[in-house]
Amino acid sequence: MKKIGFKDLQLNPATAFGDEWMLLTASNQVRGYNTMTVAWGHFGSLWELDRHRNCLPTAICYVRPSRYTKEFLDRENYFTLTSFGGGQKKALGYLGSHSGRDEDKLKAAGLTPVFDGDVTYFAGAKAVYVCRKLYHAPLVEEGFVDKRLIDFNYPQRDFHEMYVGEIIRVLVEG
Ligand SMILES: Cc1cc2nc3c(=O)[nH]c(=O)nc-3n(C[C@H](O)[C@H](O)[C@H](O)COP(=O)(O)O)c2cc1C
Repeated sequence: MKKIGFKDLQLNPATAFGDEWMLLTASNQVRGYNTMTVAWGHFGSLWELDRHRNCLPTAICYVRPSRYTKEFLDRENYFTLTSFGGGQKKALGYLGSHSGRDEDKLKAAGLTPVFDGDVTYFAGAKAVYVCRKLYHAPLVEEGFVDKRLIDFNYPQRDFHEMYVGEIIRVLVEG
Protein backbone atom coordinates (compact mmCIF):
# COMPACT_ATOMS: atom_id res chain seq x y z
CA MET A 1 0.00 0.00 0.00
CA LYS A 2 1.22 3.51 -0.59
CA LYS A 3 0.83 6.57 1.53
CA ILE A 4 -1.02 9.59 0.11
CA GLY A 5 -2.13 12.95 1.50
CA PHE A 6 -5.70 13.24 2.80
CA LYS A 7 -6.34 16.01 0.27
CA ASP A 8 -5.29 13.74 -2.61
CA LEU A 9 -7.96 11.23 -1.76
CA GLN A 10 -10.68 10.52 -4.31
CA LEU A 11 -13.67 9.85 -2.13
CA ASN A 12 -17.43 10.01 -2.43
CA PRO A 13 -18.76 10.85 1.02
CA ALA A 14 -22.23 9.72 0.00
CA THR A 15 -21.12 6.14 -0.50
CA ALA A 16 -17.88 5.66 1.45
CA PHE A 17 -19.55 4.56 4.67
CA GLY A 18 -23.23 3.97 4.03
CA ASP A 19 -23.01 1.95 0.82
CA GLU A 20 -19.52 0.49 0.81
CA TRP A 21 -19.05 -0.12 4.54
CA MET A 22 -15.71 -0.30 6.33
CA LEU A 23 -13.98 -2.23 9.03
CA LEU A 24 -13.30 -0.39 12.24
CA THR A 25 -10.35 -2.03 13.99
CA ALA A 26 -8.47 -1.28 17.16
CA SER A 27 -5.22 -2.52 18.65
CA ASN A 28 -2.66 -4.98 17.36
CA GLN A 29 -1.42 -8.54 17.45
CA VAL A 30 0.54 -8.06 20.68
CA ARG A 31 -2.26 -6.58 22.76
CA GLY A 32 -5.06 -8.39 20.95
CA TYR A 33 -7.33 -6.68 18.43
CA ASN A 34 -10.87 -6.80 17.16
CA THR A 35 -12.77 -5.52 14.18
CA MET A 36 -16.36 -4.77 13.24
CA THR A 37 -18.23 -3.49 10.22
CA VAL A 38 -19.41 0.12 10.28
CA ALA A 39 -21.73 1.94 7.92
CA TRP A 40 -22.31 5.07 9.93
CA GLY A 41 -19.56 7.63 9.92
CA HIS A 42 -18.10 10.68 8.26
CA PHE A 43 -14.90 12.11 6.92
CA GLY A 44 -14.18 15.81 7.14
CA SER A 45 -12.36 18.62 8.87
CA LEU A 46 -12.65 19.52 12.50
CA TRP A 47 -10.70 21.63 14.99
CA GLU A 48 -7.17 22.88 14.79
CA LEU A 49 -4.15 22.01 16.84
CA ASP A 50 -0.72 23.62 16.98
CA ARG A 51 0.24 26.40 14.66
CA HIS A 52 0.52 24.44 11.46
CA ARG A 53 -2.37 22.09 11.87
CA ASN A 54 -5.53 23.86 10.75
CA CYS A 55 -8.69 21.96 9.85
CA LEU A 56 -7.59 18.57 11.10
CA PRO A 57 -8.59 15.76 8.74
CA THR A 58 -10.94 13.66 10.82
CA ALA A 59 -13.09 10.56 10.73
CA ILE A 60 -16.06 10.03 13.01
CA CYS A 61 -17.51 6.63 13.86
CA TYR A 62 -20.48 5.62 15.99
CA VAL A 63 -20.24 2.50 18.10
CA ARG A 64 -22.95 0.92 20.25
CA PRO A 65 -21.92 0.05 23.81
CA SER A 66 -22.47 -3.68 23.25
CA ARG A 67 -19.74 -4.05 20.61
CA TYR A 68 -16.69 -6.04 21.65
CA THR A 69 -14.56 -3.81 19.42
CA LYS A 70 -15.45 -0.93 21.74
CA GLU A 71 -13.36 -2.44 24.52
CA PHE A 72 -10.29 -2.27 22.27
CA LEU A 73 -11.21 1.17 20.99
CA ASP A 74 -11.55 2.55 24.51
CA ARG A 75 -8.19 1.37 25.73
CA GLU A 76 -6.16 2.32 22.62
CA ASN A 77 -5.00 5.67 21.26
CA TYR A 78 -5.40 4.70 17.61
CA PHE A 79 -7.87 2.92 15.35
CA THR A 80 -8.12 2.17 11.66
CA LEU A 81 -10.84 2.22 9.05
CA THR A 82 -10.33 -0.26 6.23
CA SER A 83 -12.28 0.31 3.02
CA PHE A 84 -12.67 -2.32 0.33
CA GLY A 85 -14.39 0.18 -1.94
CA GLY A 86 -17.62 -1.79 -1.91
CA GLY A 87 -15.94 -5.20 -2.24
CA GLN A 88 -15.73 -8.00 0.34
CA LYS A 89 -19.39 -7.51 1.23
CA LYS A 90 -19.79 -11.13 2.30
CA ALA A 91 -16.87 -10.89 4.74
CA LEU A 92 -18.03 -7.50 6.00
CA GLY A 93 -21.55 -8.85 6.45
CA TYR A 94 -20.15 -11.67 8.55
CA LEU A 95 -17.93 -9.41 10.66
CA GLY A 96 -20.91 -7.12 11.17
CA SER A 97 -23.22 -9.85 12.43
CA HIS A 98 -20.90 -11.95 14.60
CA SER A 99 -18.96 -10.89 17.67
CA GLY A 100 -15.29 -11.43 18.29
CA ARG A 101 -16.37 -12.10 21.85
CA ASP A 102 -17.86 -15.42 20.77
CA GLU A 103 -15.60 -16.72 18.02
CA ASP A 104 -12.56 -16.18 15.82
CA LYS A 105 -14.73 -14.35 13.33
CA LEU A 106 -11.85 -13.15 11.18
CA LYS A 107 -10.93 -16.69 10.35
CA ALA A 108 -14.52 -17.38 9.35
CA ALA A 109 -14.65 -14.22 7.24
CA GLY A 110 -11.42 -15.14 5.48
CA LEU A 111 -9.66 -11.79 5.75
CA THR A 112 -5.95 -11.43 6.44
CA PRO A 113 -4.85 -8.89 9.05
CA VAL A 114 -1.88 -6.62 8.43
CA PHE A 115 -0.13 -5.60 11.64
CA ASP A 116 1.47 -2.20 11.54
CA GLY A 117 2.81 -0.93 14.86
CA ASP A 118 -0.07 0.00 17.15
CA VAL A 119 -2.73 -0.74 14.56
CA THR A 120 -4.18 -3.44 12.36
CA TYR A 121 -5.84 -3.26 8.96
CA PHE A 122 -6.60 -5.79 6.25
CA ALA A 123 -4.97 -7.13 3.11
CA GLY A 124 -6.78 -6.30 -0.11
CA ALA A 125 -7.95 -2.91 1.14
CA LYS A 126 -8.64 -0.15 -1.35
CA ALA A 127 -7.88 2.43 1.34
CA VAL A 128 -6.87 2.46 4.98
CA TYR A 129 -7.30 5.42 7.32
CA VAL A 130 -5.14 5.36 10.42
CA CYS A 131 -6.69 7.55 13.08
CA ARG A 132 -5.56 8.99 16.39
CA LYS A 133 -8.38 9.24 18.89
CA LEU A 134 -9.26 12.85 19.67
CA TYR A 135 -12.69 12.73 21.26
CA HIS A 136 -15.08 10.13 22.56
CA ALA A 137 -18.53 10.69 24.03
CA PRO A 138 -21.93 9.00 24.01
CA LEU A 139 -24.84 10.49 22.11
CA VAL A 140 -27.38 11.68 24.66
CA GLU A 141 -31.17 11.56 24.52
CA GLU A 142 -31.51 15.32 25.23
CA GLY A 143 -29.42 16.08 22.16
CA PHE A 144 -31.93 14.69 19.67
CA VAL A 145 -33.86 17.48 18.01
CA ASP A 146 -35.99 15.08 15.99
CA LYS A 147 -37.13 12.82 18.83
CA ARG A 148 -38.49 10.23 16.39
CA LEU A 149 -34.91 9.13 15.84
CA ILE A 150 -34.78 7.86 19.41
CA ASP A 151 -37.48 5.19 19.24
CA PHE A 152 -36.54 4.35 15.67
CA ASN A 153 -32.87 3.72 16.38
CA TYR A 154 -32.70 3.18 20.13
CA PRO A 155 -35.72 1.27 21.47
CA GLN A 156 -33.34 -0.01 24.18
CA ARG A 157 -31.76 3.44 24.68
CA ASP A 158 -28.35 1.97 23.81
CA PHE A 159 -27.10 5.17 22.24
CA HIS A 160 -24.06 5.03 20.01
CA GLU A 161 -20.83 6.46 21.28
CA MET A 162 -19.06 8.85 18.99
CA TYR A 163 -15.34 8.54 18.27
CA VAL A 164 -13.57 11.36 16.48
CA GLY A 165 -10.14 10.45 15.16
CA GLU A 166 -7.51 12.58 13.49
CA ILE A 167 -6.57 10.87 10.23
CA ILE A 168 -2.82 10.64 10.58
CA ARG A 169 -2.12 8.35 7.62
CA VAL A 170 -3.97 7.41 4.46
CA LEU A 171 -2.85 4.30 2.59
CA VAL A 172 -4.21 3.30 -0.80
CA GLU A 173 -3.62 0.19 -2.85
CA GLY A 174 -0.77 0.09 -5.30
C1 LIG B 1 -23.45 -3.19 7.20
C2 LIG B 1 -23.28 -3.07 8.69
C3 LIG B 1 -23.01 -1.82 9.24
C4 LIG B 1 -22.83 -1.68 10.63
N1 LIG B 1 -22.55 -0.45 11.14
C5 LIG B 1 -22.39 -0.30 12.47
C6 LIG B 1 -22.04 0.97 13.01
O1 LIG B 1 -21.82 1.98 12.30
N2 LIG B 1 -21.94 1.06 14.37
C7 LIG B 1 -22.14 -0.02 15.20
O2 LIG B 1 -22.05 0.12 16.43
N3 LIG B 1 -22.44 -1.24 14.69
C8 LIG B 1 -22.54 -1.41 13.35
N4 LIG B 1 -22.81 -2.64 12.84
C9 LIG B 1 -22.92 -3.80 13.73
C10 LIG B 1 -21.58 -4.39 14.17
O3 LIG B 1 -20.67 -4.50 13.09
C11 LIG B 1 -21.84 -5.79 14.77
O4 LIG B 1 -22.65 -5.68 15.92
C12 LIG B 1 -20.59 -6.59 15.03
O5 LIG B 1 -20.98 -7.95 15.15
C13 LIG B 1 -19.85 -6.17 16.29
O6 LIG B 1 -18.76 -7.04 16.44
P1 LIG B 1 -17.89 -7.14 17.77
O7 LIG B 1 -18.83 -7.49 18.91
O8 LIG B 1 -16.90 -8.22 17.48
O9 LIG B 1 -17.26 -5.80 17.98
C14 LIG B 1 -22.96 -2.81 11.47
C15 LIG B 1 -23.24 -4.07 10.91
C16 LIG B 1 -23.37 -4.20 9.53
C17 LIG B 1 -23.66 -5.56 8.94
